[in-house]
Amino acid sequence: MTSLKALGGTSDILPDQARRWQRLEESARRLMDLYGYEEIRTPLIEEASVFTRSLGDAAEIVTKQMYLFEDRGGRRVALRPEGTASVVRAFVEHGLDKTAGLARFYYVGPMFRAERPQAGRRRQFHQLGVEVFGSMSPYQDAEVVELLMHLLEKWGIQGAVLRLNNLGCQQDRPKMLEELKKYFAQDYNNLCPDCQQRLKVNPLRILDCKEEKCRLVSQGSMASSKWLCPSCQEHFQQVMKVLDALGIDCEWDQYLVRGLDYYTKTAFEVIHPGLGAQNALGGGGRYDDLVEALGGLPTPAVGFAVGLERILMALEEKEAGSSELSPRPSVFVAPIGEASLSEGLKLLGALRAAGIPGVMDYEARPLKRQLEQANKLGCRVVLMLGDVERDKKIVLLKDMASGAQIEAPQDVWLETLQKILKPVS
Ligand code: HAM
Repeated sequence: MTSLKALGGTSDILPDQARRWQRLEESARRLMDLYGYEEIRTPLIEEASVFTRSLGDAAEIVTKQMYLFEDRGGRRVALRPEGTASVVRAFVEHGLDKTAGLARFYYVGPMFRAERPQAGRRRQFHQLGVEVFGSMSPYQDAEVVELLMHLLEKWGIQGAVLRLNNLGCQQDRPKMLEELKKYFAQDYNNLCPDCQQRLKVNPLRILDCKEEKCRLVSQGSMASSKWLCPSCQEHFQQVMKVLDALGIDCEWDQYLVRGLDYYTKTAFEVIHPGLGAQNALGGGGRYDDLVEALGGLPTPAVGFAVGLERILMALEEKEAGSSELSPRPSVFVAPIGEASLSEGLKLLGALRAAGIPGVMDYEARPLKRQLEQANKLGCRVVLMLGDVERDKKIVLLKDMASGAQIEAPQDVWLETLQKILKPVS
């Protein structure tokens, strides 16, 4: 019989790796608290229209990558390909557009896109995202960008490059599309088949094509800001100014358009040059029309999401050989013989009550085997307890680093252990 495997593009996260995930998530949560962002958890499946209405019918994420199916009740549902649309749906559903004023959310969790798997491109991947509702201020855009950069710094990412662009508002969009259409139509034959299609549906997307020949054509397509209304231009200049004042290095990239249709005004992306083809660590921007498009009151909003798999890839080299990543249980309880099992359990309970991580062997294996196990787990100390120790009313402690064995009277074994575990200053 063939053995079963995880689906391509999905992965198990085994304990060694899970530790790295926990570290990322824990430091992110601390930072979110510091900035006053609160966690929101939305379902992994939604009515498909949550995404088709938000991301745009023509967005690749919708046309090619969404896991779409009919459930048993005949409803069209989708596995969430991203978090923003779900958060907006929840924001509107719970009436927060009417009551919240300024609301700051963050989320962490799996997203699903049926892409061709490769390094940094998974079918199930994880994002940490933030969404802020209720502020039109360029200072809010800057705060969100600054939070993203702070997060990367906290995680120890070095060499990330931040790029921003101004995509204008809905009023600017028809003019921009019309000009781009005219421009790309002249070079129709030099565009890839996908971009020839994009020209009909959304020429803005051509700027984002990775094909060399389309990039060449795009290069002459001029600075997008010339179509933008004065208020959008002013907004973007302000964002750049505030980022400068905050000491954040960034580039204006006039070809940055992002793969989702909901963005207005500021859009940004952070890439990591060491990551190869899939080098975007995260991205985001403003989406001032989305709350209204999903049935809420007009509410400005801005946010970002980072891909946690890519963060871990970027950190991999740095972390190689670091033992700090896999803390082990520090104490191994080794009962000698069946008769000592219940006393061993008591020791284990006392350890845990004292906040000391410990494990025990319940099979009452020979001591030699238990010591081997403790060694393999990297335990600092082994507590041994058998008939002899019981008669002497002691617990035997073995310091695995020095090999020294200490006989501790039963009423002070914990203090003795704590002395051994105390880091040498
Ligand atoms: P996005 O650019 O589609 O934006 O995704 C954000 C990040 O998720 C990417 O930069 C990348 O690191 C990661 N990512 C995307 N697809 C994959 C994949 N197939 N495998 C591994 N990692 C992936 C959004 O999703 C927006 N919702 C961001 C946002 C929040 N905008 C405003 N608020």
